[in-house]
Amino acid sequence: MSRLVVVSNRVPAAGKGQQAGGLAVALLAALQKNGGLWLGWSGKSSGAHEPGPPEFRQEGKIAYALTDLSRKDIDEYYAGFANSVLWPLCHYRLDLTDYARKDMAGYFRVNRFFAHQLAPMIEPDDLVWVHDYHMIPMAAELRQMGVKNRLGFFLHIPWPPPDVFFALPVHETILRGLASYDVVGFQTQFDADNFAHCLVREGIGKALSDGWCEAYGRRFRVGVFPIGIDTAAFAAQAKKAIRTSELDRIAKSFVDRDLIVGVDRLDYSKGIPQRIEAFERFIDTNPAYRGRATLLQITPKSRSDVLNYAQIQREVAELAGRVNGALGSLDWVPIRYVNRSISQSVLAGIYRLGRVGLVTPMRDGMNLVAKEYVAAQDPENPGVLVLSRFAGAAREMNGALLVNPYDLDAVSNAIAQALSMSLESRKERWQRMMTHLLEHDISRWCGDFLDALGAGAEARRQAEDRRPAA
Ligand code: F6P
Repeated sequence: MSRLVVVSNRVPAAGKGQQAGGLAVALLAALQKNGGLWLGWSGKSSGAHEPGPPEFRQEGKIAYALTDLSRKDIDEYYAGFANSVLWPLCHYRLDLTDYARKDMAGYFRVNRFFAHQLAPMIEPDDLVWVHDYHMIPMAAELRQMGVKNRLGFFLHIPWPPPDVFFALPVHETILRGLASYDVVGFQTQFDADNFAHCLVREGIGKALSDGWCEAYGRRFRVGVFPIGIDTAAFAAQAKKAIRTSELDRIAKSFVDRDLIVGVDRLDYSKGIPQRIEAFERFIDTNPAYRGRATLLQITPKSRSDVLNYAQIQREVAELAGRVNGALGSLDWVPIRYVNRSISQSVLAGIYRLGRVGLVTPMRDGMNLVAKEYVAAQDPENPGVLVLSRFAGAAREMNGALLVNPYDLDAVSNAIAQALSMSLESRKERWQRMMTHLLEHDISRWCGDFLDALGAGAEARRQAEDRRPAA
């Protein structure tokens, strides 16, 4: 069996089983099963002008090769091009992009650096699976160095339509980078279609049949692989967590109150201010819930050295304070806002306590919180998922109440509908979603992608062999 080599910007820190963000959580579950090599950034600064040497460590079946980047790399590659250009662009927020040539150059420089680190570690039969928008140029760099391995790429975030994408000055280089892989995977058909439209509309490439595309003289597969969670394990964790003294204490603090749960990294794409306003609208229009419903918003800080993130941090804190001041009473705090990470097992228990899982991003590649919320429910008394139609998860979670997060009244009404839903309807909706999640879990996602990568690269090789020599 081929060894799996995973490349991603964010890699779990030593001994830490979980991280903020779906990518690390999902990949950890995937790699723990079959083992392999995981290469990426340590999350730290080298404190020098250059990146540090890679540090190797083995945890169970996973070998890690992690590197500290220089401050300049972090500013230009991570905070700059990746998180101030590609992230807002892919989330349809052109207004928040902040393009600078030096950041773009830093992005390509760091990708080249990681490719040079990786190339000597690759064995001929390895499958290399590169993740997310930080690492798009990796395959082009590896190919230039003569690497012939099967190279796959999966984008965890949305891919925007051509009119948005072509606002990126280096859009051609990014598309060329993607065309260097054997398989390019997206979360939803919408994303894959947007990508194909980008290739086709300006005559850059062609969308062939059966998910094949051609561009820059290469054929590659474009597929849809909606990421899942370790459903059975997460459900078991929630069941266990609810019996711990910590969860008992938390449950007591909500006694006689309906708990509405929101969990998101602090990011403008997650729609947290809009959600708080929708909750305020819900209380205003449903006075019977005054003193009876609480929104618990758990929001670990993220990317704090990017300006837009520092702003959203202030905005959410002020908004939660304003709403609590306006609505709260001496014995009721309408919004409990927790601005730090919580362990995965406590989160699993909190999801199970929540009568409503409120997942309302303005735009999201998938959103694994939606899936975790469903997996954590008590089958005999499940809560209701209220889900943004602009999250990738909305394509799959057909038992959720789908909402448009731009419409505060709609979100407010969905909260009211969720809290008054009969047990029979809740069970029926939950069962539909849980059946899907058990079938489409993280191993299925990983297996489907790697099957496509194996088969995709083989088919391309055969097609190339059949081509007459130039
Ligand atoms: O899942 C999307 C994602 O951007 C991942 O790529 C990333 O690891 C995670 O969210 C958290 O973001 P960051 O690594 O910037 O903290």
